[in-house]
Amino acid sequence: MRVLIIGSLSGDLGQAARIAIARGARLDQADDTEAGIERLRSAAGVDLALVEIGHDVGGFIRALRRERISLPVIACGSTADAEAAVRAIRAGAQEFLPLPPDPDLIAAILEAAAGESHTLIVRDAAMGACVRRAEQVAGSEASVLISGESGTGKEVLARHLHRRSRRAGGPFVALNCAAIPESLLESELFGHEKGAFSGAIARRIGKFEAADGGTLLLDEISEMDIRLQAKLLRALQEREIDRLGGAAAVKVDVRIIATTNRDLMAEVAAGRFREDLYFRLNVVTLSVPSLRERPGDIPALARHFARRYAEVNGLPDRPLTDEAVRRLQLHPWRGNVRELENAMHRAVLLAEGESITVEAIELGPAPASANGNGAQAGGRPSAGGNAVAALVGRSMDEVERELILQTLTHTLGNRTHAATILGISIRALRNKLRDYAREGLAVPPPPGAAVPVPAA
Ligand SMILES: Nc1ncnc2c1ncn2[C@@H]1O[C@H](COP(=O)(O)OP(=O)(O)OP(=O)(O)O)[C@@H](O)[C@H]1O
Ligand SMILES: [Mg+2]
Repeated sequence: MRVLIIGSLSGDLGQAARIAIARGARLDQADDTEAGIERLRSAAGVDLALVEIGHDVGGFIRALRRERISLPVIACGSTADAEAAVRAIRAGAQEFLPLPPDPDLIAAILEAAAGESHTLIVRDAAMGACVRRAEQVAGSEASVLISGESGTGKEVLARHLHRRSRRAGGPFVALNCAAIPESLLESELFGHEKGAFSGAIARRIGKFEAADGGTLLLDEISEMDIRLQAKLLRALQEREIDRLGGAAAVKVDVRIIATTNRDLMAEVAAGRFREDLYFRLNVVTLSVPSLRERPGDIPALARHFARRYAEVNGLPDRPLTDEAVRRLQLHPWRGNVRELENAMHRAVLLAEGESITVEAIELGPAPASANGNGAQAGGRPSAGGNAVAALVGRSMDEVERELILQTLTHTLGNRTHAATILGISIRALRNKLRDYAREGLAVPPPPGAAVPVPAA
């Protein structure tokens, strides 16, 4: 989550900024609204603007509208200046944050603006059983391994488990082992000391320490290289970690939830995953059923996403027609809940009239082997002879580029999901995207855009 702060960081606003950073936000700062707009023009990926009420909040919001920059604006300032606060809200600010800042309020505002919802919708008995099992083990300190196809809701379930645990008041920190280059993963996990490597200009706390007193979600644990697995095992056994370049071990109190969309036991058999780590992580396993295996969840999830994306896009909440629901129930959903979410997001944007009809529901061609074990459900949509014949005359590179970019558009920028659909590693995908960006092609940004922050 990237936040643009408009105002001086010397006083209370600086304190708000520090709290936001501690909650994982990245900052951009501008001295006034004009400089702020300037920043927004050159930098994609800002999720939220925090504007001091001493500045012209109304003018800023109008300028955003003029330039078609869609960005939630939070006004902030001393409650003593009630009139300025009222003016800011009237001008279209989403919230007013009183200064000096309250950490919980900042966290709530960040979460709301990130548009991330962690609501867990369950109707189908198969998913109900899985959630009940999660709730049963939530109160213990046991490590939990969540398995399931990509997009089934492993992270949503992990968050639910955390909320039901004794650690609910502590942090929930997630780290995607597949999305981070191997060379950075260790420092991401364990942190580093100043001077640990060239470029380590200051101490950095890793995710383990950030999750102290709470839960650490290690996503796609199977992608962690074997050398780092040894260090992770040590951290779990000794309950302490070594920062890179650090002299002394640091005690940590963290509960681990790991997820995988591969068969981890098979990875062990193949020598790619340490058996001792497997047993350490796998005290309890939760298998999240694919969406095909819990059709009873489809209507409720579809309505949930329709409501959510109507809200996010400032559109009216419209019902789904029965025919639209039936269409959804017939689809094989190889991308699982995430695919359904994307389909409903598109449907909300495309629907015309009073309800969301079947016409608004565009279901992308289901990839045949998005997930090894999902391949048998439904038939491959006949992309058959004709579609391929139409490609004759074009180069492999060209077709590949188009397929990759279209898939990424389909997944609304989600790299992990696109890589799964394409059947390539996320690293291979990233390399391709980097090449395309260099060639000047428009590459859909990741959701919640992880763009490097320009020097503030
Ligand atoms: N039961 C559910 N109720 C509401 N939303 C859900 C549910 N399951 C999944 N989602 C939504 O679907 C998307 C994918 O879920 P999530 O990220 O938890 O899946 P995942 O299994 O971790 O996927 P991946 O393997 O790709 O990391 C998220 O946006 C999440 O909010
Ligand atoms: Mg996940």
